Amino acid sequence: METLTTVEAVRAQVRAWRAAGVRVAFVPTMGNLHAGHMSLLAAARFRAERVVASVFVNPLQFGPAEDFQAYPRTLEDDEKLLREAHCDLLFAPPVSEIYPDGGAQLTIVTVRNLSGMLCGQFRPGHFDGVATVVAKLFGIVAPDVAVFGEKDYQQFIIVRRMTRDLALPVEIVGAPTVRATDGLALSSRNRYLSADERARAPAVHQALQQTIEQLAAGSRDYATMESVGWQKLATAGLRPDYYSVRDAFDLQSPRANSREVVVLTAARLGRARLIDNLRLALRP
Ligand code: PAF
Repeated sequence: METLTTVEAVRAQVRAWRAAGVRVAFVPTMGNLHAGHMSLLAAARFRAERVVASVFVNPLQFGPAEDFQAYPRTLEDDEKLLREAHCDLLFAPPVSEIYPDGGAQLTIVTVRNLSGMLCGQFRPGHFDGVATVVAKLFGIVAPDVAVFGEKDYQQFIIVRRMTRDLALPVEIVGAPTVRATDGLALSSRNRYLSADERARAPAVHQALQQTIEQLAAGSRDYATMESVGWQKLATAGLRPDYYSVRDAFDLQSPRANSREVVVLTAARLGRARLIDNLRLALRP
């Protein structure tokens, strides 16, 4: 695996693969890789002959009071894991390569409506930062297919919509959430949890599972299910930002004809903000 840091070098390599008729898959990340990322790499490997990963902690998607400076940067470990996962190329640019004008990025990609709800209400501008950098990375890497984790379900839906709205020639694939044995979704931010907080964190998955069981049993009283889920998290000592049942396709409130629903939550626990979701197909 080669590590490249410039747009030009990545373009040259991908161009050479394309000339040889090879399919390219892309896994964008912010590094500090764990088993969740490895599953994205495996999904990418399955879909193309060449796999490109990026490691870039994107300043544009962090709010002024958020953890951009503290975000774990572990490039050497990441390179080792990517090599083991048979990644072909790592793009690990400095901030100046992606934002050459020192942050004066005049073009911002906004996916209206979807970006302002749920996490977007609590992290203003976050999804604009995500959509902008993903569009930019697609422009640089020019992949045939890109893989995103379904743990960040709102991000996945926003990227899928952005790609469709801008007619970008990239197939967007979602990969299932990878969990610890006690149900906690793997995330780079789990390292912010103390031992006591880590012991309480599985309450997130337990609450979501309970809601899914109620939905599967036929309940459609979303407001009650949401407040029960919220309470379950509060009782475990978490501070939920939201706990919501939505249509899994467009993240609007479920409708009579919704075919699949998703239960999404974000909750604060110490320094960490845990996000997670579970989906359920509804019988017609
Ligand atoms: O999910 C992430 O790690 C980031 O939001 C992404 C998609 C790499 C964009 O910076």
